[in-house]
Amino acid sequence: MNMERKFPSTRLRRLRTSKKLIDLVSENTITSNDLIQPLFIKENLSGTESIKSMPDILRYGKDEVNKEIKNIINCGINTIALFPIIKPELKNSSGSEAINKDNFICSMIKQIKDEYPEIIIIADVALDPYTDHGHDGVLNQDYVDNDATVNILVEQSLLLAASGADIIAPSDMMDGRIAKIRQSLESEGFINTILLSYAAKFNSHFYGPFREAIGSSSKLQGSSKSSYQMNTANYNEAYNEVALDINEGADIVMVKPALAYLDVINMIKKEFKVPTFAYQVSGEYSMIQNAIKEGWLDKNVMLESLLSIKRAGADAILSYAAKDISLEIKNL
Ligand code: PBG
Repeated sequence: MNMERKFPSTRLRRLRTSKKLIDLVSENTITSNDLIQPLFIKENLSGTESIKSMPDILRYGKDEVNKEIKNIINCGINTIALFPIIKPELKNSSGSEAINKDNFICSMIKQIKDEYPEIIIIADVALDPYTDHGHDGVLNQDYVDNDATVNILVEQSLLLAASGADIIAPSDMMDGRIAKIRQSLESEGFINTILLSYAAKFNSHFYGPFREAIGSSSKLQGSSKSSYQMNTANYNEAYNEVALDINEGADIVMVKPALAYLDVINMIKKEFKVPTFAYQVSGEYSMIQNAIKEGWLDKNVMLESLLSIKRAGADAILSYAAKDISLEIKNL
């Protein structure tokens, strides 16, 4: 680079004299193709229900889900991530409802695919919606048992794939689960089922509103996920997690949360050059959305935040604001 170029031969403001010029030299953009809408669906609910800690986000009952999918498609979004809330009496210590082939999530995937076969469905793989202790796996004393959990996650993944999920997303952080799930998918003939690994998932306090939304926080009773989710202080460890998951057969890797981990997103994309997603999690969403609703921040902060995640290197972003932002950018 020629550092001799000085004012006035260089006036960086020349390219900022109009919105059209600014857009012309813009380095990053967000389109609805980059956005994924997470959706809370609740068994035995008729209609919808609001979530106290997540402004404008609802839980949808079986009868309302397809209507909402239609809204999402109309906003230009092609991909959804489903999170079930099951009947409390179905939760137990082994999360056995996760591997009941007629469970709520499997029936909802079928219901959605029947009407909207073109929508891309991401189904989460973890036991926290199903366990009575709120952990992502089964316990041996107080410790989440890695290998026993992986065996269950394999079964859960096969059921989700058989129900029609396009993308299986293990969010549990057990070691070795990608390899086992990939092997089983291959041997059962699900050769095109995509594995999106929550590879670098931090033990973050930004998940609070999500845990309220799916009802796992009261179950956890203050117990932490620190024996499986990553230490929030770590960076190199994210490299190791991602390297392992790619070797084990992940098609896409994810960093989660997003805004507090932009350095990690950037490093992963640069180092591995594989499809890399980021999750703007519930706490990030609620913080921003609440400030917008209170009038403390301009509504453009949501787009600014998503753009920063894109700029860091994310190819796509899971965001509770996906639908609204997608509409907004369409109308810009
Ligand atoms: C759990 C799971 C979590 C999220 C997605 N899947 C929370 C957790 O690890 O407790 C968080 C998403 C969010 O906060 O928006 N398997």
